[in-house]
Amino acid sequence: MSGKRTPGDYVFLEQLGQGSYSTVFRAVERTNGGRNYAIKVCGKKHIIREKKVKYVTIEKDLLNNLARGGHPGIVRLFCTFHDAENLYFVLEYVSGGELLSLLRRNGPLPESWSKHLFAQLVDTVDYMHAQGVIHRDLKPENVLLSQEGRIVITDFGAACALSNSAQDRAASFVGTAEYVAPELLLYSQCGLGSDVWALGCILYQLTQGAPPFRGENELKTFEQIVALDYKWKIPTTPQITALVRNILVLDPMQRPSSKQLKQNSWFSSIDWNDRATLWKGIWE
Ligand code: ADE
Repeated sequence: MSGKRTPGDYVFLEQLGQGSYSTVFRAVERTNGGRNYAIKVCGKKHIIREKKVKYVTIEKDLLNNLARGGHPGIVRLFCTFHDAENLYFVLEYVSGGELLSLLRRNGPLPESWSKHLFAQLVDTVDYMHAQGVIHRDLKPENVLLSQEGRIVITDFGAACALSNSAQDRAASFVGTAEYVAPELLLYSQCGLGSDVWALGCILYQLTQGAPPFRGENELKTFEQIVALDYKWKIPTTPQITALVRNILVLDPMQRPSSKQLKQNSWFSSIDWNDRATLWKGIWE
């Protein structure tokens, strides 16, 4: 089909998720055999009132650029359109739910599962970073699982491009308390290292079932983060604790890059060039 779509081209079904300035619905196209999509709807009034125009524009441009490379770990953007009230992002529908739900259902994952999922995450973040994109809100709610159990990173609504001005990067707090890096809290700095920090939090959560830093309220959580105050509750391997310790350091310059993460000895069994094995789903 050519030309701009309209909301009438789709049947909107159940709500899949809700962000600070958007709601995501499952939708099927009226033509084309009823294929499933996830349509993110952003209210124009709300975006303008909350001064989020920059973020939705960035999200659209970044997803369009990232989609060109066609990485399996990044949600595909098929098209965008708008009407008087809303902006619409027509995204790939990822049917296996959030990584967070998997962790809630299963509790801590066995090491082999954790390694497989974490390797897919690291591979995707490495690709994103090589493209100069910082996600800035990596967390298990934004990691979806495909039908087969491959990870797909979504919600680039807080992302920024590295080439943007320092002012854009040194942004206000846009992420989620539990996964926010200390440099953002202390110096309003955000770089590639902030995504690596979030990866460290996610690896901890894969093996422990809960994030490393979680206080009774956001302030207490922030205090734990800047004091590096976390404890291992469930016994895990020395390699995992060493890797998390390596990542969760306050100075972002001392953290490994995503490229360096791939070289960690915990991943010695992973062949990063064997894409078929790396991207096999955990339910395949
Ligand atoms: N929730 C948020 N984004 C989604 C997507 N692309 N597919 C399925 N559920 C989602």
